[in-house]
Amino acid sequence: MGVGAGGDWRADLASVLLTEKQIQDRVAALGTEIAAAYQGKNPLVIGVLKGSVVFLADLIRRIDIPLEIDLVCLSSYGQAANSSGQPLLLKDLAVPVAGRHLLVVEDIIDSGVTLSHLLALLQQRGPASIGVCALLSKPARRETDVPVDYTGFEIPDEFVVGYGLDYAEHYRSLPYVAVLKPEVYETPPTAATPSD
Ligand code: PRP
Repeated sequence: MGVGAGGDWRADLASVLLTEKQIQDRVAALGTEIAAAYQGKNPLVIGVLKGSVVFLADLIRRIDIPLEIDLVCLSSYGQAANSSGQPLLLKDLAVPVAGRHLLVVEDIIDSGVTLSHLLALLQQRGPASIGVCALLSKPARRETDVPVDYTGFEIPDEFVVGYGLDYAEHYRSLPYVAVLKPEVYETPPTAATPSD
């Protein structure tokens, strides 16, 4: 079937797992909790590209204290990796983090490999503290133990898209989180043609 077959990519979704309202309510609660914990610390909130951008944009507007943001990008699963199979840093932070209070923001923690690698890298730079906030967590998929201080939702092991999460770069702009129909990802996407 493939992504958006028949021109309607909402037809690719099996069900809505988290509604826009459920997400926004939870994001507001996380923001309040984070603001209380980081009051007076001018945290550097670090979004992990690309999946976290939607969550990051909403979350920071709910953290009602002074903060700064920066972005990193690590190579995707199954893409470029170094000889030990670790993700590569494709885009580094723009600022030094020694002595800073860091809050890493992720859209989803699955195996934990990406986060574990990022935390090790940040730790080497001597920050005052590192916290982690993830909108979604799939505990059933965890391969490595990672500390998550703020979790939006624990979800079952389903293929989810929306609110920043993609399949083949599609669906990130959906305002909710949905389960993708298996026939979509079981049929690899084909290259776009001029008539698409
Ligand atoms: C996703 C997600 C996390 C990572 C989680 O990113 O944003 O960074 O995978 O998986 P893990 O816990 O198994 O390491 P992805 O590599 O799909 O890139 P994207 O953010 O650009 O979609």
